[in-house]
Amino acid sequence: MLPTIAREADAVVMIDQRKLPAEEIYVRCRTAAEVARAIRTMVIRGAPAIGVAAAMGIALGMRTSAATGTQKFAAQFYKTCELMAATRPTAVNLFWAIERMKRSFAAAASAGESVEQIKDRLDCESQAIHDEDVASCRAMGAFGADVVPPGARILTHCNAGALATAGYGTALGVIRGAVEQGKQVTVVADETRPFLQGARLTAWELMREGIQTTVITDNMAGALMHQGGIDLVVVGADRIAANGDTANKIGTYGVAVLAREHGIPFYVAAPLSTIDLDTPEGQHIPIEERSAREVTHFGGNQLTPDGAIIWNPAFDITPHRFIAGIITERGICRAPYTESLARVFSDAPVGAPH
Ligand code: MRU
Repeated sequence: MLPTIAREADAVVMIDQRKLPAEEIYVRCRTAAEVARAIRTMVIRGAPAIGVAAAMGIALGMRTSAATGTQKFAAQFYKTCELMAATRPTAVNLFWAIERMKRSFAAAASAGESVEQIKDRLDCESQAIHDEDVASCRAMGAFGADVVPPGARILTHCNAGALATAGYGTALGVIRGAVEQGKQVTVVADETRPFLQGARLTAWELMREGIQTTVITDNMAGALMHQGGIDLVVVGADRIAANGDTANKIGTYGVAVLAREHGIPFYVAAPLSTIDLDTPEGQHIPIEERSAREVTHFGGNQLTPDGAIIWNPAFDITPHRFIAGIITERGICRAPYTESLARVFSDAPVGAPH
């Protein structure tokens, strides 16, 4: 499987997603600060992947700590958590992973473990977050495959694939799940301006596996739907509010509105670590704004006149009423989402795919 991120004894290693598909380069981060920079600068991106990176970055930072006393070690630990939390604001998986690391630290500290034992525990916890993410993606793929009709032409936006997770992917996991069930599907990948996750990453990932993929620029999706060229939309998510409103890559909202107009089912695939029951509605989700340069320049070439005003939000909110279902590792949640999302965290079944 595609190696998005891995831990080595003295480093966190990740494929440089800024360079794909032209170059396959692996970046070795040897400190927590280097991991934080890699998240901020999009060496690694995608909600579950940045959660895993933050957890591994914290574990690496503490592994290399010279502190011998638990008090100094604890102060360093919480500072490292703050460093990771300040990288990107929208994807809740980042904060979820940091909270898990804090809980693990607190359990070790209250059990009276030594600094060396706590280091081991943090390494194990970050690896567990990684491994559980792959398992969640596979489960989502199996549930989601059932909503994919044979021969479906599936539109996706951004990259919610192996590269955006610890492996297998969320939206692309659903596509992989359908292919594993023997369904012949084809994919349409929105280019996804300005960072081009669709054109560069989704197309690269799927083509490696021989899944037929057509790349379109973002402004072509409406025309293609109007011609009857899309049967299903599946996207990932960066944060899902308690009522089902979903933050995902900028442009997702437009795709959802178009899908509704054309009667095309619009699904979101995301693990429980992306669902934020503490945020009641989408309007409360913080939206990251990125550098104007991502819009003004492409490959070093300036596209816009000097002084042009730029707005570059990285995400938008799709209201829950546009969403046919939210595919999780425990099943598919349907409207009313306030009930089904709350239920998915309990042991009760969330309902069979239909
Ligand atoms: O800015 P990015 O590339 O981190 O944004 C990624 C997305 O919006 C993905 O669709 C989302 O994180 C889901 S990834 C499984």
